[in-house]
Amino acid sequence: MRLSINGKPHDLDVEPEMPLLWVIRDVVNLTGTKFSCGVAACGACTVLIDGQPVRTCVTPVGSVSETAEITTIEGLASGDELTPVQAAWVEHQAPQCGFCQSGQILAATALLSQTPEPTDEEIDAAMTNICRCGSYPRIRKAIHAAARAQAETLRAAAGEGASNDER
Ligand code: FES
Ligand code: FES
Repeated sequence: MRLSINGKPHDLDVEPEMPLLWVIRDVVNLTGTKFSCGVAACGACTVLIDGQPVRTCVTPVGSVSETAEITTIEGLASGDELTPVQAAWVEHQAPQCGFCQSGQILAATALLSQTPEPTDEEIDAAMTNICRCGSYPRIRKAIHAAARAQAETLRAAAGEGASNDER
């Protein structure tokens, strides 16, 4: 089968029931996506499939459409340019041990794409990933900061568009 991961096509000779997590980590060698509970409970293995957060430890690779775009933590930044979520994570020093954080960042990315300015309650409802280090308060702060940064970027782009229209 063929899958697109971080914009790159991969031809894979794997059994359809193999968890997508094993394919990503052991076949494609993208090890930023982590294995922890193995039963869809913790979110450490989260990636985005067409922008939606998916727990890959319980997702058979054969269930993923060949036309889907899979994004792992390695595919978020463009070169050295971090996404607003990644930058906010750094600014607010969200990680402690870091193990859960790839999944947390991808879950937050999906949340902000659907709810650009979430309330604390919306963050708590959407962010069901588990952190054994208890980084939840910093994650919440980082999500609010990323939301502000995204809104700022959009406002700046809208301002630029308006001034271009006037020319
Ligand atoms: S390892 Fe997949 S949800 Fe925990
Ligand atoms: S930062 Fe250690 S498990 Fe979340």
